[in-house]
Amino acid sequence: MKIVETIQEVRTEVKQWRQQGLSVGFVPTMGYLHEGHRSLIDRAVAENDRVVVSVFVNPMQFGPAEDLAAYPRDLEHDAAICKKAGASLIFHPQPEEMYHSDFSSYVDMDTLTGGLCGKTRPTHFRGVCTVVAKLFHIVAPDRAYFGQKDAQQLAVIRHMVSDLNFNLEVVGCPIIREEDGLAKSSRNTYLSEAERKAAVILSQSLRAGEALLDAGEQRADVVCRAITDKINSEPLAKIDYVEAVDWNTLEPVETIDGPVLVAIAVYIGKTRLIDNFIRP
Ligand code: PAJ
Repeated sequence: MKIVETIQEVRTEVKQWRQQGLSVGFVPTMGYLHEGHRSLIDRAVAENDRVVVSVFVNPMQFGPAEDLAAYPRDLEHDAAICKKAGASLIFHPQPEEMYHSDFSSYVDMDTLTGGLCGKTRPTHFRGVCTVVAKLFHIVAPDRAYFGQKDAQQLAVIRHMVSDLNFNLEVVGCPIIREEDGLAKSSRNTYLSEAERKAAVILSQSLRAGEALLDAGEQRADVVCRAITDKINSEPLAKIDYVEAVDWNTLEPVETIDGPVLVAIAVYIGKTRLIDNFIRP
């Protein structure tokens, strides 16, 4: 497995694979890899001849008051995980390689990005779409793998791929969790011991919502209220949003009967965590 920092080196590698008729899978990440990322890489390795993993903490998707500087980084650890999983190449660019000093073109989306995380992170998805579009151009994969953990991101990327005619398949992968239910996240490392215990409230509240749906409840406000009450029972938790939206349009729904995404964002102390479930 190679680790490269330049766009040219990625293109050279991929070109050689293409000449041999090999298929290419791609897993974009911001590094500090955990089993959630690993599940995407495993799937990509199973479905493609060669797999590229990008490790790039993308400054453009962080707001001015967000955790760009503090975001955890450990390339050596990431490389060990990628190698073990059978990836062929890590693309680890410096910010200057991705964004020249005169950079001025962006991928912006009018739909899907205004609600949920877009409400409190208004420039986030512009940053995500721009970097992912660039990475798609650089790697030119057959398939790209994204986690349902970031469900809005998955929907946005699918939409961008369709709108802008990227010639690749977006593969959505299930949420990987800790034993107590907490969705794995690089940001979990910010949590103190007490906060880590409190963070289980996210998945527990979602399970409470799902239990209501299983019992036949269809009213979105009733389900969201139950999730809200459960989260509010945890003193260290502060809700950013609890919402039930149409899984295709990400518009709020009143009744949970079609494909619906129930998504939450919750501060545990200073750390903002997200989780969700999808009812097909
Ligand atoms: P990052 O947060 O590193 O996540 C990379 C990929 O791993 C995303 O597709 C995310 O949904 C997936 N992932 C994270 N935790 C997961 C979990 N517990 N289970 C399953 N999948 C999980 O998302 C980003 O980076 C960036 O926005 C990126 C797409 C790389 C653009 O910069």
